[in-house]
Parts: sequence; C-alpha cells; structure tokens
Amino acid sequence: MYQLVINNLSEQEFLNDFWQKKPLLITQGFADFVDPLDANELAGLAMEENIESRIITNHNNDWHAYHGPFESFELLKEQHSTLLVQAVDHWHPAAAQLLEPFRFIPNWRIDDLMISFSTPQGGVGPHLDQYDVFIIQGEGKRHWRVGMPDNNLKQFAQNKSLLQVEQFPAVIDCILEPGDILYIPPGCPHEGYAVENALNYSIGFRAPNQRDLLSNFADHIIDKEAGNNRYQDPHIMLRDSKGEIQPTEADSVKQLMQAMLNNEALFKTWLGTTLSQPKHEMDLIPPEDLFDNEQIAELLNDNDVVFERLGGTRALYQVYENEILLSVNGENYNLPISDLNAVKLLTDHTSVTAEQLNSSKNSLVFVQTFTTLLNEGIWFC
Ligand code: SIN
Ligand code: CO
Repeated sequence: MYQLVINNLSEQEFLNDFWQKKPLLITQGFADFVDPLDANELAGLAMEENIESRIITNHNNDWHAYHGPFESFELLKEQHSTLLVQAVDHWHPAAAQLLEPFRFIPNWRIDDLMISFSTPQGGVGPHLDQYDVFIIQGEGKRHWRVGMPDNNLKQFAQNKSLLQVEQFPAVIDCILEPGDILYIPPGCPHEGYAVENALNYSIGFRAPNQRDLLSNFADHIIDKEAGNNRYQDPHIMLRDSKGEIQPTEADSVKQLMQAMLNNEALFKTWLGTTLSQPKHEMDLIPPEDLFDNEQIAELLNDNDVVFERLGGTRALYQVYENEILLSVNGENYNLPISDLNAVKLLTDHTSVTAEQLNSSKNSLVFVQTFTTLLNEGIWFC
C-alpha cells in the first residue's frame, strides 16, 4: 500500500488551497517509493494490441510521435525519447495500487494511470492538460517546470498528435526524485525532461465538458426512445409579424428540452451510465464455469472469501427515490436501499471480504446483481 503525505497539509487543506487552484510540489509524497514495475514491463505492455501507447522523440528539437502497439523499441533511443502507456491500472494490479491514495477525491473524478519512461532529455514538451493530474516520480530524476494558467499562451501542433504550448514563466521549477509528486491543475502549462532514465506515474482525472455531456445525453434519449413530447401551441394568437419567433415561444422550446434534463429517472440513469463508462479496454476474464445465485449466496456466507475488483472498473452509485442505482462500467442496476452497506463497500473499495458484505442483510436482488458482476469478471474471488 502506498501512503500519501501531502507536505504538512491534511487532505482537506490540500483540497481547499490547491485542488483546481494552483500547482503544488509534494516533496516525498511517497517516502521510500518502490516502483510497481520497471521499464521492461512497461515496454511489454506497449506491445499489446489492446493497450494504448506512444513513443515521443525530440532529437535536435525535432518532435515525432509514434503510436503503438510496438513490436520493437528501436525508436526509444538512449536519449531524447519517451514511451507513454495509457490506463495501466486496467492491466497491472500492482501499478493500479498507485490510484488508491488519491481516492480522497471521488471515484467518478478519477480517470486512469498513465505511465511514462523517459531517457535523458526525453519528454513530451511544454503543454497544457484539460484535467488535473498528479505526476509521481518513480525511478530516476526528471526536471519539471510548471506555470500558472494564461489564456494568452499560444498552443501549436508540433505534429499531428502532439499539441504544445509556447514558453511560459514557471512557478515551480524542480528536479523530482523518487517519491516526489507534482500536482498540476487543468490549464497549467508544464514540461518535464528526464535527467536520467525516469519512470513517471500520472494519475489523471475526468472533467466532462458541456458539449460531451449534452451530446451524450442526447444519445441516451435516443437509446431509451424517450423525448417524444412535441411542441404544442393550443392558445396561439394572431400576430402582426409572421416572421418572428416570439420570446415566449423560444421559452416554450427551451422548457420542452429542459423537461428532459428535469426527468430525474432519465437523468440519473444517464449520469450513472456515462460516468461509469471506462474509456479504455478492460482486462475481462469471465470465469470458465459461471456461478449461479446459490453459489454466490454460499460464497457470501464464507467469511474467508475476499472479492477483488478488476483494475479500471468504474463502480458508482446514486440514491434515488429510496432505491440505489448502482452503475458499473456503463451498466445500471437497481437495488433496494437496504443494500446500501454492501453497495458502499463495493464502490468505495477495490477489495472486500464476504464477512464485510454480509455484515448487513442483503437482498436477493443484490445476490443476483453480484452474481452477474462476478460472471462478467468485474469482481473475482
Ligand atoms: C509524461 O509523463 O511524460 C507526461 C506527463 C504529463 O505531462 O502529463
Ligand atoms: Co501533461
């Protein structure tokens, strides 16, 4: 287990003073840091078809980006090169442990763990991210500069898949050593170049924008075949100008649309689906012999059984009209409120014992739902 110490701040003080506000250097955030993998293992992941990876090189300030999967690593030179692998928490349980100390921020805001390996002078260049990120220094050392958001900074594409930003004044300029962590809020320009071969672990967050939310919500309305009410005007009056859309008419159209957002059941099911949707592939291995409900009920009675949640699983819940809406990897399940203890255990923790789950009386629906989740390989024991 990794134990996070945020300088002399409590987690709440960090949230009050730094989260989404200003960057912070967390010196020795993880004391005696031990890397969960090495560069060779990372390269192995970058050879896999289902795993998103890139190599960025910057020889003589000439930037190139190559996309994986890679069959060999000639592109990764002894200098000026970086290998980046996305969503490693989906594939590597030991590396996934690095997300756990950051769960003082709600699960639905956490996205994934990206890992990079850079050779001296290697980096992705100065850039902005739209999301908060914690960058943990593993093996090696890396020189980082971080600035404050500045709308005047010009962004430009070094090449088709590498967006960078012009030079910026730094408020943090430091060499990270193993166990040091940088917190960078959205929009803060930053750049990091390895001083010696370096592994970096980036905990990324999600923050959907209005465009994605609305288009996603529209897709949900279509899926559910909702939204069939049509505009009506039974009290229409004669008017002077036929060309005008009157303000009250514009308002009526807006209300017709807002009624969809105000439909709590539709909104909550959509929210659960969309926020629990993984963006990357899952390493799902369903059991060869599927469980039935009786077997799961028996397992739940065996105090020694431990249930583990598959890395990258997004498990969230909402309480709505005295029921629980559990959302797991884009699927919704309705459960009675009496299952709240069990649902909290499953969504708050990556591993849970049968004893804990059984500490409150669970419904038959819970057993059925949990059977489905185990049969899909999302939890396993
Ligand atoms: C990296 O590890 O090279 C990139 C991390 C970042 O800047 O977001
Ligand atoms: Co970045």
